[in-house]
Amino acid sequence: MNTFPSDFLWGGAIAANQVEGAFDYDKKGLSTSDMLPNGILSPHQTRVERTSGIKDVAIDFYHRYPEDIQLFKEMGFNCLRLSIAWTRIYPNGDEEEPNEAGLAYYDKIFDELAAHNIQPFVTLSHYEMPYALVENYDGWASRKLIGFFERYANTVFERYKNKVKLWLTFNEINMSLHAPFTGVGLQEDANEQAIYQAIHHQLVANAKVVNLCHQVIPDAKIGNMLLGAINYPYTCNPDDVIAAMHENNKWLFFGDVQTRGQYPGYMKRYFREQNIHIEMKDDDLVVIASASVDFISFSYYASGCASADPKQKEVGNIVDSVPNPYLEKSQWGWLIDPKGLRILLNFLHDRYQKPLFIVENGLGARDQTNSNGEIQDDYRIDYLNDHLVQAHEAVLDGVELMGFTSWGPIDLVSNSTAEMSKRYGFIYVDRHDDGNGTLQRKRKKSFKWYQQVICTNGASLKR
Ligand code: BG6
Repeated sequence: MNTFPSDFLWGGAIAANQVEGAFDYDKKGLSTSDMLPNGILSPHQTRVERTSGIKDVAIDFYHRYPEDIQLFKEMGFNCLRLSIAWTRIYPNGDEEEPNEAGLAYYDKIFDELAAHNIQPFVTLSHYEMPYALVENYDGWASRKLIGFFERYANTVFERYKNKVKLWLTFNEINMSLHAPFTGVGLQEDANEQAIYQAIHHQLVANAKVVNLCHQVIPDAKIGNMLLGAINYPYTCNPDDVIAAMHENNKWLFFGDVQTRGQYPGYMKRYFREQNIHIEMKDDDLVVIASASVDFISFSYYASGCASADPKQKEVGNIVDSVPNPYLEKSQWGWLIDPKGLRILLNFLHDRYQKPLFIVENGLGARDQTNSNGEIQDDYRIDYLNDHLVQAHEAVLDGVELMGFTSWGPIDLVSNSTAEMSKRYGFIYVDRHDDGNGTLQRKRKKSFKWYQQVICTNGASLKR
């Protein structure tokens, strides 16, 4: 009873733009991520411009992947979540023919993973898209993006159909509400009307690509990916409970459309009351209704609180929320709430009745090397231990959980702030915010700990 299911997938999750570097190699085009050298949180950034930054080299996974995959294997991974950079395959997004050099690169990665018996789990779009699509089409504001994304998905499904059997469409699709440039290629000051219109196009694309995956690779599974931003009511005042319901609906809306195949009533009401009019083609709703993801995946870092009193809100890293007096915070102010993971798993399973996959969870922290040259990251061990214990509780509650891929098994560039110093890894990478460092890899204390957890299928967790 102390272990996870016998076919549980254990591993880590990375994203192309945060690990690969090589931003202009092999005919890769510039992506939206390449235009955000300081991360998605550059304050009040309304126009982007390209300057060189830490992501240009990142941790050079582009060249060092054999060593990194070897280290993942040593930890016992049977699964690696990674993303394909759309700009390696279609540098401008609207070409008729794909870039062979980009396709060949991912062939090498998938072959290396296969040689180590690690199953690739691929996100089609993890916080990046060709920047040329923003310049020439206004990003997902244009319906044309649906066709471009379909073409890209079809290309990689056909190419890798014998190598990749687990797919995700858009990373944290609900984040477009908070970071529209990163999510849908709109400027950060875009209004809700524009953002929801772009999201509609993305949801149609999601449905088309889910169906396409089922046609091209009948034995594959394809899921969605949500930022699991669960909100508690700040108090038991029914007004706070309703505030929490509204906050949660903001992100559940995406899962509802991707799973149930229709716009929920609460969203139609919101659009009506906010005067938001979504332009649709005749068969958009038919397309959306025709597709349902095979499983729900999500990231989980923190829970939030919602209050009917707007004065309670604090400005946060990405998402504003009401502080929870019962929880501690990470060095970046993210609330640490392992039990929230159990609550979220039960909640999502109950709502959707589909298998779930935790595709991101981890602690971003400043690591120090001691005089023996070791990194004793007990705080990371504690964080992950406590979250995994709660994930296991949810399994005991009856939740069907496919796997766990911790975020950033190797140090990488953080997404929101483009820092190397916000480290998540079991593997340390010698690279720093100023761009210095040898890029050498080193095992942290958590490396052996995670190895043990995987090897015992969770039995070694401290309960
Ligand atoms: C998720 C993203 O939001 O959280 C990742 O899918 C990101 O890309 C991760 O890296 C952690 O956030 P950050 O800002 O600490 O890198």
